[in-house]
Amino acid sequence: MKTYPLAKPFIDAEDKKGVLAVLNSGQLSLGPKYLQFEKDISVYTGAKYACAVSNGTCGLHLAVRALSLGEGDEVITTPFSFVASSNCLLYEKVKPVFADIESLTFNINPKLIEAKITKKTKAIVAVHVFGQPVNMGEILKIANKHKLLIIEDAAESFGSKYNEKYSGTIGDVGVYAFYPNKQMTTGEGGMIVTDSEKIYNLCKSMRNQGRNVNGDWLIHERLGYNYRMDEMSASLGMTQLKKIDWMIAEKRKIANWYNENLHGNKTIVMPSTNSQGSLSLFVYVIRITNGVRDRVMNKLAKKGIQTKPYLPVIHLQPFMRKMFGYKKGDFPVAELMASQTLALPFYIGLNKQDVTYISREIWKALEGS
Ligand SMILES: Cc1ncc(COP(=O)(O)O)c(C=O)c1O
Repeated sequence: MKTYPLAKPFIDAEDKKGVLAVLNSGQLSLGPKYLQFEKDISVYTGAKYACAVSNGTCGLHLAVRALSLGEGDEVITTPFSFVASSNCLLYEKVKPVFADIESLTFNINPKLIEAKITKKTKAIVAVHVFGQPVNMGEILKIANKHKLLIIEDAAESFGSKYNEKYSGTIGDVGVYAFYPNKQMTTGEGGMIVTDSEKIYNLCKSMRNQGRNVNGDWLIHERLGYNYRMDEMSASLGMTQLKKIDWMIAEKRKIANWYNENLHGNKTIVMPSTNSQGSLSLFVYVIRITNGVRDRVMNKLAKKGIQTKPYLPVIHLQPFMRKMFGYKKGDFPVAELMASQTLALPFYIGLNKQDVTYISREIWKALEGS
């Protein structure tokens, strides 16, 4: 039986050649590759500065620190995301304050943000969930009106644009992630982008043990970390970036096949393609609206088709309930979406027949449930 994982990185001969060349060079860290990868990301996205880090989570952590957010501060964000988008606040004892989401985009509902603003509110973490850009026009308006900073968690949206700007480059600081299930990969890896020289210099110093950017190796100007990206990852990032537009287009093709095949099923809501820019999809997520999502998932698993309930809400994670006393019903739209969403296999290499087969099995699973 042919099996279908949820995700798989696309790695070609150029990627392998590049990584092997780094291994042969003997310079596995702090070499030329991470600097070149940063330049390449800066050129691609249009961000003035880019700072490579070892994963998206530590990129978000540095963004929070670089904006001087700390104990006593509140930051407004979404409860429907991967947990790192609010954990990065907790690392610095910042309180994440959730606003519920829109069912169409799965993103934070800008209309619900202002009611959450208090004297302690300092920033918004806007998460472009599944690659769908947040309505940044509204976020910017609110941020300007209330003098709030904006962190864009663009971990899931590399290559997506809001109007003409790449996600990640619209707020004060943005973070991409390159885990192997993402639009492009470096193995583990992430990138902070910003137009602010100050934020960039702080991030550069903090990722490298707090060293002064131009200073002595053993002088540590501030509290820092080892959040550096190694040279193999950076080389992989460089060659992946060369083909990112092609990879995004391939994924779009696969999404369109799913759209065609699943169209007309009354219990399925397809992902929104109604973005105010261009979409770079991270995952293909449908909603199963008649309460049988988990049953469908089990039936598909028996056919070798891996699916996942993306994403569980953050506020109902055990540690969040314990810390803040959240309970079911606190963010009803996010909770409803989390009970219905199902991510389908989505990776380069799936062909039209594969998508037809997977879709047919979804139709069958729904008919029998
Ligand atoms: C929305 C979001 N934020 C942050 C991250 C963290 O990225 P990483 O896994 O590279 O630490 C992810 C990764 O899955 C994510 O989806």
